[in-house]
Amino acid sequence: MEGARLYEGNCATCHGHDGHGTPDGRLPPLVGSSAVGSADPSNLVMTITLGVDRKAGGEHVFMPAFGPKLNTDQLAELANYVATSFGDPAHKVTPAVVERVYASKNDRSWIIANAAMLAWIAIALLGVIALWILWRVAFRRRTA
Ligand code: HEC
Repeated sequence: MEGARLYEGNCATCHGHDGHGTPDGRLPPLVGSSAVGSADPSNLVMTITLGVDRKAGGEHVFMPAFGPKLNTDQLAELANYVATSFGDPAHKVTPAVVERVYASKNDRSWIIANAAMLAWIAIALLGVIALWILWRVAFRRRTA
């Protein structure tokens, strides 16, 4: 029941208790969504963990990211509830899947988070190479 409780608390305000969204479609239904019904839960987990933040025809389409708010087990419970209730009861989402999908995104953000440090390492390496070239040039002049 944990998944249902998480859905009610985090998603039902926008997507509706029964997963049908709003009648005008501004908030999309989850029932019939390919991300929800797919046998590969990657898109579902991606949407839940990273959210949606984009402009569409002058409108701001926004869904919060739940990856930073919930732990891996909760995310799996939630994704599993959504996939089995609104998609296909045969599709199970496990914590291992959440780990794989969400962690692959975290690897990229590690590079972004450490971009400054990586840039300094690159500059230091270039400095070493420049010194080595200068040393080579000076050494060749002396022996010639
Ligand atoms: C603030 C409102 C809001 C909340 C809260 C919210 N969503 Fe969404 N969600 C949206 C919007 C808006 C979209 C449509 C994004 C788009 O059109 O690209 C969306 C898209 C989705 C999609 C993709 C549907 C498709 O067919 O592409 C899934 C799956 C989804 N949400 C699941 C959830 C789950 C699970 C939760 C709770 C953890 C949740 N959402 C909470 C607003 C919300």
